[in-house]
Amino acid sequence: MSRDVYESDEILQQYLLFHYGKPEEQLPWSFGPAGALDFPRRCVTEGFLPDRLPGRSRALDIGCAVGASSFAMAEIFGETIGIDYSDTFIMAARTLAREGQITYSFRETGQLTKSIVAHRPEGPHGRIQFEQGDAERLRTGLGSFDAVLAANLLCRLANPRNFLERLVELVRPGGQLVITTPNTWLESFTAPAYWLGGTPETGEPLEALTAELDPHFERDAVWDMPFLIREHRRKYQWSVAQASRWIRRSEG
Ligand SMILES: C[S@@+](CC[C@H](N)C(=O)[O-])C[C@H]1O[C@@H](n2cnc3c(N)ncnc32)[C@H](O)[C@@H]1O
Repeated sequence: MSRDVYESDEILQQYLLFHYGKPEEQLPWSFGPAGALDFPRRCVTEGFLPDRLPGRSRALDIGCAVGASSFAMAEIFGETIGIDYSDTFIMAARTLAREGQITYSFRETGQLTKSIVAHRPEGPHGRIQFEQGDAERLRTGLGSFDAVLAANLLCRLANPRNFLERLVELVRPGGQLVITTPNTWLESFTAPAYWLGGTPETGEPLEALTAELDPHFERDAVWDMPFLIREHRRKYQWSVAQASRWIRRSEG
């Protein structure tokens, strides 16, 4: 397994449903964990405090997948850039931005599928663009941002510290950084030497993350965020991400 998993049709369909599916499409069970739905939008609404930022701010959604959190950021911020390593995800996000919708199928059971349409969220939004890129080697010229989101990205990187180091120049002083992570550390994505916590030697992931960010970011809040990814009608991944908001220090 590697980040190429995010290029497959099956995962594309799973993520289109995760990001854009109606509640009854994602979870057709009245007794299911409905509070875990709408995760990409909640990352933005629970994560950022726009009142504390200048008007028409710039935002970056890194590891944006098929883009629902980027669209939610574009409702708040004047300019939003969504970046993901997966060409397949970025092509889908661009189609949604350009055409307002995309048709896809999701699995009911076995080979039985259902065709539905994902719609770009309505409403006024600022400029938005999607580009393919590597969080560990982001291109020069991106500039700096008032708001940066990295949702469930860290434990999919080969060396998350490469990304964390770049955040110092990406987030403007006083800017807000929101990180969510279920801390699903897997050797197939990240060699254990590069995990942020999660081993007997390195301890709790939040403390390891804090040790990395603290010189340049003040930890502002920590909370838990459930999310639900549907595999098929009768099988789901229910996870709880640890969410944290960080404010870029003025000095350093
Ligand atoms: C677990 S998914 C989370 C996606 C999205 N943020 C969400 O919460 O639904 C991880 C995402 O990170 C992307 N990704 C993995 N490695 C990456 C890298 N080096 N640079 C940028 N994106 C990467 C994957 O393509 C995938 O979209």
